[in-house]
Amino acid sequence: QLQRIKIIEILDSRGNPTVQVNLRLDQGTTAIARVPSGASTGGREAVELRDDESHRYLGRGVRTVAHNAEAELNNRLAGRPLQEPSDLAALDAELTTLDGTDRFAHLGANVAVGVSMAAARAIATLHKQPLWQLLHDVLNERVDRIGAAEHAPRLPVPHFNVINGGAHASNDLPFQEFMIAPLGAPSFADAVRAGAEIYHRLHAILIESGDPPGLGDEGGFAPRIDDPTVALDLLVRAIEAAGYTPGPNQIAIALDPAANGFHHEGGGYDLCGEHYEAGGLIDYYASLIERYPIWSVEDGLAEDDWDGWSLLTHRLGSRIQIVGDDIFCTNPQLIKRGIGNGTANAALIKVNQIGTVTQTLEAIAQCYRAGWRAMVSHRSGETDDTFIADLAVGAGCGQLKSGAPARGERTAKYNRLLEIAADESATATFAAWPPPVTRRA
Ligand code: PGA
Ligand code: ZN
Repeated sequence: QLQRIKIIEILDSRGNPTVQVNLRLDQGTTAIARVPSGASTGGREAVELRDDESHRYLGRGVRTVAHNAEAELNNRLAGRPLQEPSDLAALDAELTTLDGTDRFAHLGANVAVGVSMAAARAIATLHKQPLWQLLHDVLNERVDRIGAAEHAPRLPVPHFNVINGGAHASNDLPFQEFMIAPLGAPSFADAVRAGAEIYHRLHAILIESGDPPGLGDEGGFAPRIDDPTVALDLLVRAIEAAGYTPGPNQIAIALDPAANGFHHEGGGYDLCGEHYEAGGLIDYYASLIERYPIWSVEDGLAEDDWDGWSLLTHRLGSRIQIVGDDIFCTNPQLIKRGIGNGTANAALIKVNQIGTVTQTLEAIAQCYRAGWRAMVSHRSGETDDTFIADLAVGAGCGQLKSGAPARGERTAKYNRLLEIAADESATATFAAWPPPVTRRA
């Protein structure tokens, strides 16, 4: 049974307040969750609630939010059963009912997701299971029920964000994330090694070029460049300098342009001094794919440009992964709409975008039912919480992005995956690409 919930105001990696949830069961089992926070957020994300106190933390405090929610949650949830895996869905449903809005505007999605993550951890601990195993079991039950394809637990291909721009850096680079993805690595540990070696080579190349780079929010370098092709050239040089081969079967590149950031208010996109309509921007992406080993593009268009997205997927979806982040916000209903419209062929998965673990798993199940891929993701504001590492393994989705192979809040996730990889009792294997999908009859 759930005995007590404690909610604490702590700091995230950007120095902004966020929520920690401590949950205690009456058998003495305890679990903690620390909640991440985005900067380039989608308009339909669950609501991250902050205090209305401009004198504290520049108006970003969560002390009152935590205080109010703690009282309300203890009133309503103390004594609830929290033991079996199925109790997680019941608790998440109760959180949704208690909140009473459709996007956690009352409790705050930052509070709700922390409670939900801590509850999942507590159940796993009670069953002496690794968290990834519990998440796998809960997801698979759902996947079976809706007749989706089952995915075995797998260590994901890590996507290291080594050059930062957009809302995550103070340079003029319009694209937000330039990631290296060791798709051809023989093991997870080899993938991490490749990522770190390339990161260091890239640093040396930037120093040599006379542009000692700052860092962006996700630990990638933030060189003073403004042209995405210059960043891509740097990636290719760094991959080669580290002794690897750039290519779709070796070290590939993934982009998150986060196009909301250069979407023009009146329509179209402003990029590198040019104005593009969706079709022109898709031509630009097509030219990049010709020249560089890009295998995945996330948020290539703005979150409201549904028609543009369908065109993008129609034109490039058979060649690369097209990932929807801000357009779907990990929302199963929006993903369903996207599936119906041919909007993308993959969804980004962020637990705090939707507010509960159950809804997050539902979003993944919807992807699997449609033959879409899912990519588990951190936020630009992070903590040392490693929940998403276990989520990626349990979901068996084969891919995770958690920033650079540097900085504690980013490496916490990669290190947790190295720990799972080293655990001889873990059945999780490394995701060769593409991830094998076993379809149930
Ligand atoms: P955010 O960015 O965490 O700042 O929203 C991450 C992303 O766009 O994928
Ligand atoms: Zn994104």
